[in-house]
Amino acid sequence: MFNTKFFNEKDSLRPRKTKKTYFCPIMQQSELFKKVISHAKEYGFIFQSSEIYEGLNAVYDYGQNGAALKKNIRDYWWRAMVQLNENIVGIDAAIFMHPTTWKASGHVEAFNDPLIDNKDSKKRYRADVLIEEFVSKIENKISKEVTKAAKRFGNAFDKAQYLSTNPRVLEYQSKADSILKRMVKSLEKEDLADVKALIEELEIACPESGSRNWTDVKQFNLMFGTKLGASTETAIDLYLRPETAQGIFVNFLNVQKSGRMKLPFGIAQTGKAFRNEIVARQFIFRMREFEQMEMQFFIPPGTQKKWYEHWKEKRLKWHEALGLGSENYRFHDHDKLAHYADAATDIEFNFPFGFKELEGIHSRTDFDLGNHEKYTGKKLQYFDPVRNENYVPYVVETSIGLDRMFLAVFSKALQEETLVDGSTRTVLKLPPFLAPTKLAIFPLVKKDGLPDIARKIVEDLKFDFTISYDEKDAVGRRYRRQDALGTPYCITVDHQTIEDQTVTLRDRDSMSQERISIDALGKLLNDNLSISELLKKL
Ligand code: GAP
Repeated sequence: MFNTKFFNEKDSLRPRKTKKTYFCPIMQQSELFKKVISHAKEYGFIFQSSEIYEGLNAVYDYGQNGAALKKNIRDYWWRAMVQLNENIVGIDAAIFMHPTTWKASGHVEAFNDPLIDNKDSKKRYRADVLIEEFVSKIENKISKEVTKAAKRFGNAFDKAQYLSTNPRVLEYQSKADSILKRMVKSLEKEDLADVKALIEELEIACPESGSRNWTDVKQFNLMFGTKLGASTETAIDLYLRPETAQGIFVNFLNVQKSGRMKLPFGIAQTGKAFRNEIVARQFIFRMREFEQMEMQFFIPPGTQKKWYEHWKEKRLKWHEALGLGSENYRFHDHDKLAHYADAATDIEFNFPFGFKELEGIHSRTDFDLGNHEKYTGKKLQYFDPVRNENYVPYVVETSIGLDRMFLAVFSKALQEETLVDGSTRTVLKLPPFLAPTKLAIFPLVKKDGLPDIARKIVEDLKFDFTISYDEKDAVGRRYRRQDALGTPYCITVDHQTIEDQTVTLRDRDSMSQERISIDALGKLLNDNLSISELLKKL
């Protein structure tokens, strides 16, 4: 679409080529992460909550650009789930719920993390995560053996055979398996003394102090309590919801009956959730107040395997369609299942600090509806005309954190390029339809009627696109500012515009420029910024 000429944007329109250097590889992962955090602040995406009061740990505010990017991600999810699927509807349930909800859901009893403190560093860790990280190191050793062998044997290398026969690999694998098996068994039996014993036997040291001076492992409930009511005598204890899913379960019959829904069907919802995370680090990856985008898909019992596979595939496709690179996603099946699941997997993403959970897909059986039946004494059943019977539906859930999705998109989009003249530019290569601002319009100079023409273009296009008007500084600097904000297109109005009604359209990623008639702008931008084309790929 665009010509491939590159221009020096600082001074004149001289051809210019770029050499790409991503922030990424492993060498600079922590460097990249620091840049992500500082860029997010500097350009109005994310601020520490209550910063002027020294901030609040693991709580963040989205600024003017962050709120827009977050909204666009939310829209992409909502449209893919609700708009594209006839049998999925969306709701918006309250954050406060009847307190018994959380007994029925199992959160009062079982929404705990096993925590352990290091007595020297005073740092607190999730005991299972310490053990899983130890196992990951063993798995990395296996990967290294495979890479070495692949190099040694070249085309003749048979990975499956190597993994099943090489004695060293088998030894590593068996060690990893037996550690995980023991951990899962101990956690399931609530044998926290054995979880501590395992940490000690594996000689796991505190990443901060390097010492092995551990406290006992203790369970810690993650729900925030609050009170509802005017006086202390009459107030009732409530929880801030730790997941949005229960708002869907308690409305299952309301939606099914009022919407005359037939199984299989889904209910989707986006909204805030709250968890008193103890190990809350890594910026917006693990927050105490965060937003979830969840969908519960209600199905006949016995079909859960099929739908679980269906939603795994669908959700991966949704991620991959963003173009952040399919090598950055992988599934991680759970060894230890949550209290409600008969199968569960995470879609992990390659964050600046490595592969971590981005989304969960869970086969939740009839656990939730069944328990709400028990606690309320009300039937939450569906009459299946095909089977000619009543039953409590099974559920497959897809659950993704909006803030984590934001971090995934933002950290992959942030790149630094070295240009041929040795200068660098920082550019946020967001998928265009997610960009907070779609278009920036500049008059080349602040005189000769150019600002009026530029303003008129803003007035004409503002109904379809978020637009930024900028007349300060040299054009090259204005381009850099928009690159850092992720704006896909810039339009410059110059003296030629007065003569032939054309403007310069500059592309963020290639930095190429072309002259285009003002009349053609609307269609061209629509074709390139529309979310519809992306949705068609799903
Ligand atoms: N309803 C199921 C459920 O809540 P989960 O695995 O606990 O499952 C689902 O959470 C998703 O919510 C996670 O994959 C993650 O993206 C996001 N999430 C969970 N805890 C979070 C936190 N403390 N901060 C940010 N996102 C979080």
